[in-house]
Amino acid sequence: MIKSKITGLGRYLPERVVTNNEISTMMDTNHGWIVERTGIEERRWFTPGKETVNSMAAEASKMAIKDAGISTEEIDFIIFATITPDYFLPGNGVLLQRELGLQGIGALDVRNACSGFIYALSIADQFIKTGMYGSILVVGAEIQSSALDKSDRGRSSAVIFADGAGAAIVQASNGEEGILSTHLHADGDYAEELYVRDPGSSRKTRISEELIEEGGFNLFMNGNAVFKHAIVKFHEVIMEALDANGYKPEQLDLLIPHQANLRISQFIQERLKLPDHKVYNNIMKLGNTTAATIPIAMSEAKDSGRLSSGNLVCLAAFGSGFAWGSALLRF
Ligand code: UT7
Repeated sequence: MIKSKITGLGRYLPERVVTNNEISTMMDTNHGWIVERTGIEERRWFTPGKETVNSMAAEASKMAIKDAGISTEEIDFIIFATITPDYFLPGNGVLLQRELGLQGIGALDVRNACSGFIYALSIADQFIKTGMYGSILVVGAEIQSSALDKSDRGRSSAVIFADGAGAAIVQASNGEEGILSTHLHADGDYAEELYVRDPGSSRKTRISEELIEEGGFNLFMNGNAVFKHAIVKFHEVIMEALDANGYKPEQLDLLIPHQANLRISQFIQERLKLPDHKVYNNIMKLGNTTAATIPIAMSEAKDSGRLSSGNLVCLAAFGSGFAWGSALLRF
């Protein structure tokens, strides 16, 4: 049976490093609080006029294409996970397609926030397994910093979210290695616990002074509610992936959780009784880049030797929607 295999990985991080001390000059917060509650020491924010979601995605994609050892023309389809597209319409998939010179192939945008990359990977997996496509470019890229309320009102989310892009080449393979299963879930009852309300299409006007003042264009997060659900669902969906394939947590070589908050990752690590070297975290230096965290982490892990051919790897995410998911793969 045909399997889907991740054959190349890439990433792009904005050059601008924003430390906790710099954030403390914008709002009432401090390095100690941020590190204790989130584990984040610094993050990257884009520079307007220099980087866009599309330019970052293109750089990450070029690195992934090179890593896979394929030519750009071999890509049959693009899946772009982002909730911070460059335009309200059209989506970022077509912009990336144009940038890569792949006019004519299909391009799909996925809007499942922090779980976007897992959803996108699962879609790629289905297309490949059915034989519809042979090589798919899957991207997660975000600019969150321009949606953050950098006043005291928005401090609990402004310290967490950040910018960046990651990309993977997913290809058909007949070997043992590849994606073993993916598991997707959502519960729309919690849609407003983590959301950006505006520009909502069902209003009389999409933009007004009043709407701006209300803060609907900024990212709103009920951090406590997200945290409580995240620690339960992360564990559940990782176990679902392991159970579906007859594995136990101790057989995992590497868990790459969505980088939501270091405390969430540590909580899951403890519940699964995994040693430090089996859990990949980079939130300390990069913050939470929503759909981009997992492909960035995979690309870094591969380059640093922590992710190698043949490893049993679990990817898992939880976020806005609420939507959550996992993927188990033999890398
Ligand atoms: O990416 C996917 C989805 N996102 C997540 O998974 C994030 C999940 N949630 C979280 O990571 C945490 O809930 C936060 C980091 C957002 C907040 O941490 P917390 O430990 O849940 O803090 P809290 O909201 O319960 O607030 C505790 C205190 C409050 O003060 P009082 O009322 O106790 O006096 C907040 O006003 O901390 C205060 N606070 C801050 N203080 C300094 C909130 N944000 C800040 C801040 N700096 N940035």
